[in-house]
Amino acid sequence: MPLDRFGRNINYLRISLIDHCNLRCVYCMPLDTTAYAPSSELLTAGEIERVARAAADVGFQKIRLTGGEPMLRSDLVDIVKRISRTDGIREVAMTTNGVLLAPKADELAAAGLGRVNLHIDSLDPERFARLMRFGTLRQAWAGLEAAERAGLSPIKINSVVTRGYNEEDVIELARLTLRNSWHVRFIELMPLGEGGCAKVARDNFVSSAETMRRIEDELGSLSSVQNTHPSDESVNFRLKGAKGIVGFISPVSDPYCGTCNRMRLNANGRFHLCLLSDDELDVRAALRNGSGDDAIRDILLQAVLAKPTGHRLSEGISTSNRSMFQIGG
Ligand code: 5AD
Ligand code: SF4
Repeated sequence: MPLDRFGRNINYLRISLIDHCNLRCVYCMPLDTTAYAPSSELLTAGEIERVARAAADVGFQKIRLTGGEPMLRSDLVDIVKRISRTDGIREVAMTTNGVLLAPKADELAAAGLGRVNLHIDSLDPERFARLMRFGTLRQAWAGLEAAERAGLSPIKINSVVTRGYNEEDVIELARLTLRNSWHVRFIELMPLGEGGCAKVARDNFVSSAETMRRIEDELGSLSSVQNTHPSDESVNFRLKGAKGIVGFISPVSDPYCGTCNRMRLNANGRFHLCLLSDDELDVRAALRNGSGDDAIRDILLQAVLAKPTGHRLSEGISTSNRSMFQIGG
């Protein structure tokens, strides 16, 4: 088991496949972003498979594919196949905005994808477009329905609450859980990245407490649900008689760093030690200079040992210059 210096069992690897996105959410990607990694810098499917194998060898069990938008990788199905057949990996999941998912959901499920988290900030087409800027709610919704048909469950919807954009939409999103066994999770904005995104996040922050109050005022009380997984960053509740779960992810007002079990791999082959730190450890050079699997495992274990205790947002300190689309959430 890969334990870090603080006794946390790090067994969940998030792999960013690409640092592009087909959307440009106001808090994530400036409209004029051009700082993409050239494709020669992105890890190939074979290189990703090697890292996944090294991770499984040292005790990682869960892998999540993220972006930017992972569905922009033309070799996504191949990557899912390679990872899901890796001995020791029990779960392969993906975080996506869902816009490109509908035609691929069956193929991905057949390749071994287990679940998806879909990013949907509003059920109102105009407010969706204002916040997420490209793509349409109709496309994202088609992705959600296809994911459900393909058995990629439980479906989790992530919604980033942004004042002036969607803070009232949390009610309709939470209402979805009454009839569907989905998890709808509300995420507090983290001040990350350049190009004004961190400022948007600071200026438009809505606490989970406020979101919860808004939902309860309209839909009745939320009762607490035991987390099935101790490292689940979401604090979960259920509306009366509901099939699904309403969750709150509160990196700012209630940091969950103490139970963090994750390591991140950037699209350009660097282990990213904490979402809110810029510390990275390069693994791509080793993958490309003929190093053996033991060297890859060593770099991963070094990264685990170098993980910081946690972020210091509550003290107003964010050291991250990277945006979410570059790290993958
Ligand atoms: N703060 C919190 N969550 C964010 N996401 C993107 N940017 C931010 C931010 N600044 C979320 C998206 C996506 C996941 C990868 O991260 O909702 O689901
Ligand atoms: Fe794309 Fe997700 Fe960032 Fe929105 S939050 S721009 S969907 S990566």
